[in-house]
Amino acid sequence: MTTLERFILDQERFHPDATGELTNLLYDIALAAKIIASQIRRAGLVNILGAAGSTNVQDEEQQKLDVFANETMKNALNHTGRVCAMASEEDETLIPIPDGYPAGKYAVLFDPLDGSSNIDVNASVGTIFSIYLRRTKEGPGTLEDVLQPGRDIIAAGYVMYGSSVMMVYSAGHGVHGFTLEPTIGEFLLSHPEITTPPVGKYYSVNESNFGRWSSGVQRAVRGFHGDEPDRIAGKNSRYVGALVADFHRNLIAGGVFLYPGDLKNPLGKLRLLYECAPMAFLAECAGGAASDGRQRILDIMPTGLHQRTPLVIGGKDDVDYVNEVIAAEDGGS
Ligand code: AHG
Ligand code: MN
Ligand code: MN
Repeated sequence: MTTLERFILDQERFHPDATGELTNLLYDIALAAKIIASQIRRAGLVNILGAAGSTNVQDEEQQKLDVFANETMKNALNHTGRVCAMASEEDETLIPIPDGYPAGKYAVLFDPLDGSSNIDVNASVGTIFSIYLRRTKEGPGTLEDVLQPGRDIIAAGYVMYGSSVMMVYSAGHGVHGFTLEPTIGEFLLSHPEITTPPVGKYYSVNESNFGRWSSGVQRAVRGFHGDEPDRIAGKNSRYVGALVADFHRNLIAGGVFLYPGDLKNPLGKLRLLYECAPMAFLAECAGGAASDGRQRILDIMPTGLHQRTPLVIGGKDDVDYVNEVIAAEDGGS
């Protein structure tokens, strides 16, 4: 029985300068995940389903659970002295550390509740997080500490509130999955060293946008339908509508997820900093790949907290195939 704490401590041997701070920070996030999980488990019984009657910076109606998960993440991290600043899907601006508390060496970004539209129908939702070393030297964290490219992530992961609660993370040395044992309230190692197959069984995309995609994206997805068997074998379609759930299935069973840009939203829907970059980091640590259809997600230099990017993520050969078809059909760089 390997607990999350035991495993992370063992992993510290990869980091000669490890101070145990990252261990404690990951543990803080695991605590927040357990608190959020407890509310989700009871969502139908306590008054936490439905809309919160407010909208977030993306002008998306906030669900009560969005707000609860956001407050839980902030309160688990803001007083520990390990974090200098945070950023969240649910906060328009940078989240500073409250006065009176020390600013730490990490910046943490998160999507506190991913897949909000699934909450009221009891389908899987998740939490996504990424951790960077602060850029600025001291004092309160600034935007500079959170507007970093995904290639500088030092650890990232997600929690999936599904048939069981799982926390999947990487600190750059393998991707590891832990399952919450609710009777003891501990995350126990259940999926060590997760790797994702280069060619997957599944493809995941919201096909209702098909008519608005570029011809390159349309051709790539038709390849997944089985229209070009000499080039790529057809795949099975699965789409849960929560990035964490679609990504997790593809990571474990093999698959590719796409949220392309389209005529209406050229940059697509997903946000670079707290959805695409952390998942891209995990995909690459598991032997997979992630692009915006042209360039590596982890190389994108962010300019805004809530900027969006098209996303193609999953098995390396499947992502390469989509990139090649887009380059051939849509041209340009
Ligand atoms: P969030 O609930 O944090 O806003 O994220 C929802 C995202 C992502 O989880 C999912 O892949 C995507 O929205 C689904 O979008 P569509 O409903 O447009 O397919
Ligand atoms: Mn999300
Ligand atoms: Mn969200």
